[in-house]
Amino acid sequence: MKTIKKIKEFTLLAESIRKRGKTIGLVPTMGFLHEGHLRLIRMARKQCEVVVLSIFVNPAQFGPGEDFEKYPRDINRDRHLAEKEGVDYVFYPAASEMYKSEHKTFVEVEGLGDIMCGAYRQGHFKGVATVVLKLLNITKANRAYFGEKDYQQMMIVKRMVDDLNVDVEIVRVPTVREEDGLAMSSRNRYLDRKERENAGILYKCLNKAKDMIKGGEKNLRVVRTEMIKELEKNRYISRVDYIEFRNPLNLQEISEAGESGRSILVAVAAWIGSTRLIDNMVIKL
Ligand code: PAF
Repeated sequence: MKTIKKIKEFTLLAESIRKRGKTIGLVPTMGFLHEGHLRLIRMARKQCEVVVLSIFVNPAQFGPGEDFEKYPRDINRDRHLAEKEGVDYVFYPAASEMYKSEHKTFVEVEGLGDIMCGAYRQGHFKGVATVVLKLLNITKANRAYFGEKDYQQMMIVKRMVDDLNVDVEIVRVPTVREEDGLAMSSRNRYLDRKERENAGILYKCLNKAKDMIKGGEKNLRVVRTEMIKELEKNRYISRVDYIEFRNPLNLQEISEAGESGRSILVAVAAWIGSTRLIDNMVIKL
């Protein structure tokens, strides 16, 4: 496994891999790998001849006052895990390499980037879409792997590559959960012991929505109220940013559970202490 920090070096390498007719799978990450990332890598390993893991804590997707500085980083541990999973190349650029001082171009996915998390984290998805497009261009990936845990991110990336005719297949990979249902995330590291013991509440609350909707409740406002009650009962939940019901195919808002065969994305963002967690579930009627 080789680690490359320079864009030019990576691009030349990617060109030569493509010339040899090999497929490149990109797993874009901000590092501090967990089992969720490892599943993405394993899927890429199965489907592609060359697997690239990018590790870059992207400053452009953090707003002022967010956790850019304290975001967990451990490149040696990440490299060790990546090597064990059979990653071929780690792309690990510095921020100054990715964003030259004269950088002026950003990608915005209208209508999808300013709802849900985008309404609470202004500019976040503009930073995500921009860096993902840069990573796709640099690595010349045939396929790129995204977890369903960041459902909105995955949909934004899909929309972007379709709209901008980027020749890459976006592969979605199911959320990996801890035993109590907590979706794996590098940010779980911020939770103290008590907060961690209570963090399964998000998944519990998504299951409550599933039970209600499958049990015949059509009015999603009623479902939301019950979910909020469930969350607010827990004294470690310091704030609920949103609970939303969306069409999983286009993220349009849904107010009523429809006929059978339809699916509903239920998405939640809530704070446990000073840590913001997100989770979601697609409920099939
Ligand atoms: O999901 C992440 O880790 C990041 O948002 C991504 C896709 C690597 C872009 O920085």
